[in-house]
Amino acid sequence: MRRGSPVAWVPAIGRVFVATWNLCHEAGRDWRTYGPTSELFNRVYGDPNVMSIDGPEHRALRDAVRQPFTPDAVGRHRETVLRPVAVRLVEAIRERGRADAAVELCEPISQRAIGDLLGFADVEDAVLGRWLHDYGAYMVDLTGSDEAARRGREAKAEVRGYLEERLPALLAAREDTAISHLLHHGTGTGRSRSIDEVIGTMGVIIVGGLQEPAHAAANALLGILSTPVARERLIADPDTWAAVAMEEGLRWIAPFGMTEKRTTRETVLGGVAIAAGTEIALGLGSANHDETRFADAARFDLDRPRLGLVSFGFGTHFCIGNVVARALGTVLLEELFRRLPGLRLDPDAAPVVEGWHVRGATRLPITWDT
Ligand code: HEM
Repeated sequence: MRRGSPVAWVPAIGRVFVATWNLCHEAGRDWRTYGPTSELFNRVYGDPNVMSIDGPEHRALRDAVRQPFTPDAVGRHRETVLRPVAVRLVEAIRERGRADAAVELCEPISQRAIGDLLGFADVEDAVLGRWLHDYGAYMVDLTGSDEAARRGREAKAEVRGYLEERLPALLAAREDTAISHLLHHGTGTGRSRSIDEVIGTMGVIIVGGLQEPAHAAANALLGILSTPVARERLIADPDTWAAVAMEEGLRWIAPFGMTEKRTTRETVLGGVAIAAGTEIALGLGSANHDETRFADAARFDLDRPRLGLVSFGFGTHFCIGNVVARALGTVLLEELFRRLPGLRLDPDAAPVVEGWHVRGATRLPITWDT
């Protein structure tokens, strides 16, 4: 597609798919023409949610939910929230000599550490995992399955019940969590947002926030362990190479294969006329592998110049979690390579990378010297 028809209608996803880096950028940055899509997000998460709207209402919700994830805030949380969870998880498996890094490390650190920053410190890991899988499966289901819809709706009802129960305490005292900021930030004295106003955005951060940092960390670890020069560098000097490897992992396998927009007016992209109201998929995974921008793009390469990965989207809806996701993966890689000598892929069990809309290493068997 990138070479032959980089802007094309793809019936299987009911969208015009944009495949190259340049065209994804052109569309992604033109938010007046490529506005937010709302039907899918409203159905899965609820209306309003931060992804579905533009203008002042969007800016207010975005500003509220991003408070615990600004660079300064992540600087504070890195050693107090992210690293302690990473150390605990790595220590729990250290004596065993083998583990599934995707299931036993990346998923739990993402759910626990980001979950705590979202405001779910009192929700058990298993419940957070169920919420994100049920919301997530509904989100990526393009077949209209009744079962996925039922489970997605049940997850949303459970999150609503949880918020209703905690509301009196959340209104009585503010805390530095996404839930609390969503309720209070920027509302003016005396007023707070209602559950109806925040439940949709809670869905966005449950799926994006709890699940994708796990995929990003697992993808980077897979890249390192399947590339001898990268593995040697991480073993020799994790503090220097962990952040570099996270960055290349985010490019190598984009956790979200696409981000969705809807045209607000007639337009032309890459010479192709597009009608107003057309659903658009900006192919992030494809743009990150655009051979006109990234030489030998399929290779996991720690020496690659930074030429602008697009895994976190563009412009007004650019991911507010990008700093914390990068920090979380970096901290986990540092602790893994510091604490598990000779870390390598398990020769007796193959890794599994799956998904397209949401893509990641979901099984990553590793072994090390004990
Ligand atoms: C590696 C992990 C992550 C990836 C790859 C990712 C990717 C994305 C992408 C592609 C978008 C859409 C951008 C656009 O359409 O231009 C997005 C939006 C968003 N992400 Fe993330 N995300 C990640 C982690 C997180 C985390 C940890 C959080 C929160 C804790 C988060 C919260 C959000 C929110 C709230 C939005 C909507 C922003 C808006 O509409 O203004 N994400 N993310």
